[in-house]
Amino acid sequence: MTSKILIVDDDPLAFIALESIFEGQPYQLIHAQNGPAALEKATEIMPDLILLDVMMPDMDGFEICRRIRSTPKLAEVPIIILTALDDRSSRLIGIEAGADDFISKPADRQELRLRVHTILRLNRYRTLHTQRENLRQMAGHVIRAQEDERRRLSREIHDDLGQALIAHVLSLRSLQLEIPLQNELLKKRLDDLIADTNETINKMRQIAQDIRPAMLDTLGLCTALKTYSREFSLRTSLPVVFESDLEIPEVSDIYSITLYRILQEALTNVYKHSMANQVWVELTVDERNLVLIIQDNGVGFPPESRQKFPNDGIGMIGMQERMTLVGGQLLIKSSQSKGTIISAHLPLDEYLQTRE
Ligand SMILES: Nc1ncnc2c1ncn2[C@@H]1O[C@H](COP(=O)(O)OP(=O)(O)O)[C@@H](O)[C@H]1O
Ligand SMILES: [Mg+2]
Repeated sequence: MTSKILIVDDDPLAFIALESIFEGQPYQLIHAQNGPAALEKATEIMPDLILLDVMMPDMDGFEICRRIRSTPKLAEVPIIILTALDDRSSRLIGIEAGADDFISKPADRQELRLRVHTILRLNRYRTLHTQRENLRQMAGHVIRAQEDERRRLSREIHDDLGQALIAHVLSLRSLQLEIPLQNELLKKRLDDLIADTNETINKMRQIAQDIRPAMLDTLGLCTALKTYSREFSLRTSLPVVFESDLEIPEVSDIYSITLYRILQEALTNVYKHSMANQVWVELTVDERNLVLIIQDNGVGFPPESRQKFPNDGIGMIGMQERMTLVGGQLLIKSSQSKGTIISAHLPLDEYLQTRE
């Protein structure tokens, strides 16, 4: 990646000298000969580094430095002041103006190259870190918005549609009472209709529950995970042992929904792929993490198969991404014929800091 370096110096020869020093480096050098031009160019190109001369007519380097620092868009750009002044007081002025480093003129070629290289590397790291942090926050917002929408949908399915169908069943029942006793056929058809409608109600409840488990909001994470494990076990006839510490701290929505979705996916995977006959789910707190473990005694899988298979649910990769987004870690241990252990670790410090 080419780094852009803005060189601010009124002396064209100084620019030529720097060009020769940086020859062969992956830098694009841009020249500005005075303060106003420097500010304009910097805003336009967003340099990765500014090399700034001090002694210039009209606006000196310190003043340019101050102005750059007070321009929000440019406030974070690293600035090295290149100066013939080698005294302590001008360095102090430079620091106050917001410079990151000083290099005395005439610069030692090797030293200048190394310092520029170092500062660019550090800055790239910082930029990456900030970008990653922003991305994480944005993804957090997206997940929250998605869960809000799911909560609304789930409530509408469960309450509106559910109530309407229950009213429907009640009408069918009262209709049944009006049928003459001897009309067996009609009674039987109504019975079937009622049974079908009840089945639809149950399916709808299951859908509402899968979209957004209301229990997560009312009874908390631990109960929601335990109930899900039990219902999964009933549905699949696969024995699931659920264990948890007595004291599970209350975590914010984004953490609990992440763990809930991981449990859903992990148990679905156990059912679909593992051929296990026993599953263990454990929710514990070690000194710094809230930990959810899903273990099975099935066939296991080699690490490559994780990438190979397309995902229909959130999948292994999705689980990993969700954990990373909330600052946690997902560990997968699987060995063929010894089963699989998925463990999700959420740092509690992080949760305390970012708790809504
Ligand atoms: N508990 C498990 N036991 C055995 N194999 C598993 C287990 N969990 C995941 N796998 C393997 O990892 C693959 C990837 O899983 P996943 O990303 O969830 O995709 P999908 O379930 O859609 O295949 C699965 O296809 C399966 O081969
Ligand atoms: Mg899967």
